[in-house]
Amino acid sequence: MRIEERENRSRRVAAPAKVNLYLEVGPPRPDGYHDIDSLFLTVSLFDELELEATRDGEIVLEEDGISAGETNLVYRAAAALRRYATDSTIGARIRLRKRIPQGGGLGGGSSDAAATLVALSRLWEVDIDPGRLAALAAELGSDVPFFLHGGLAICRGRGEKVLPLADDTFADAPPSIVLVLPGIHTPTPVVYRALDAEGEHGDVLTRSSPLDSLTSADSQRRLTDGAVIFNRLESVTFRLFPELERIRQRMMAETFVRVWMTGSGSTLCGLAPSREAAEAASLRLAAELGDEVRVVVVEGLPRNLA
Ligand code: C5P
Repeated sequence: MRIEERENRSRRVAAPAKVNLYLEVGPPRPDGYHDIDSLFLTVSLFDELELEATRDGEIVLEEDGISAGETNLVYRAAAALRRYATDSTIGARIRLRKRIPQGGGLGGGSSDAAATLVALSRLWEVDIDPGRLAALAAELGSDVPFFLHGGLAICRGRGEKVLPLADDTFADAPPSIVLVLPGIHTPTPVVYRALDAEGEHGDVLTRSSPLDSLTSADSQRRLTDGAVIFNRLESVTFRLFPELERIRQRMMAETFVRVWMTGSGSTLCGLAPSREAAEAASLRLAAELGDEVRVVVVEGLPRNLA
């Protein structure tokens, strides 16, 4: 995330979206979650947050100009962190501008929560060690710990075990990806339940992972040739939401190296051979897919820019 400090009492943060380049999912665990083996990448589509430290003991959150409630992940992140502050009079005024669509598999809410934890821990000068902050992030959601790092990372467990890969692997030539946002909400628990019903899980615990060979020198080539791309949740989501198939078929007619779905959907991704090819494809797709579908060109973000 990019943090811009304004005086000592306020910060502006750009919280990036993510895509899953690889997502293998194992059977359900006793706690209902699924073990995953996944490759996450932050991309250049951002929510914007403005956070200001106050002295009235209140957390006040506005989302796109409208007062947001205590169930919002940003609010919950602020409230959870405040428990670690010694000064009980501290509060925060937070303005969130959403650019990352919700329910799209792009992790916007999780990224906002991670950005809130990092920015407020500095503004409030909370003395919390990185391990405790990561645990707090994991309590908020499986994807939140990843966004404390950003960039390219292998995520395991239910997503909370994060292994960041080298920063500089694609800094000179970040992959260009066309995101197609179909305007369909594909709820994560519904998709996981359907996978369980169909019993189409992969093996994430005993089989060796294709991500293990993703050494830093190898990463860029394997990303740009799309060899690593896979999503276990894709077929089941397509069966649940058949309208996604029409969009995929249209994307397959472009020059994309690979077309795939991120997370539990509904965003479809096209890995483009170049930025120019991505721009050209996005114009054609936007013109043909209709008003309810949004098309955005993004680039992978190395960690130092995330
Ligand atoms: O952790 P988070 O609150 O983001 O997860 C939302 C839902 O997604 C969970 O309630 C669960 O149904 C599903 N999930 C899962 N396995 C994971 C991550 C999420 O089953 N590894």
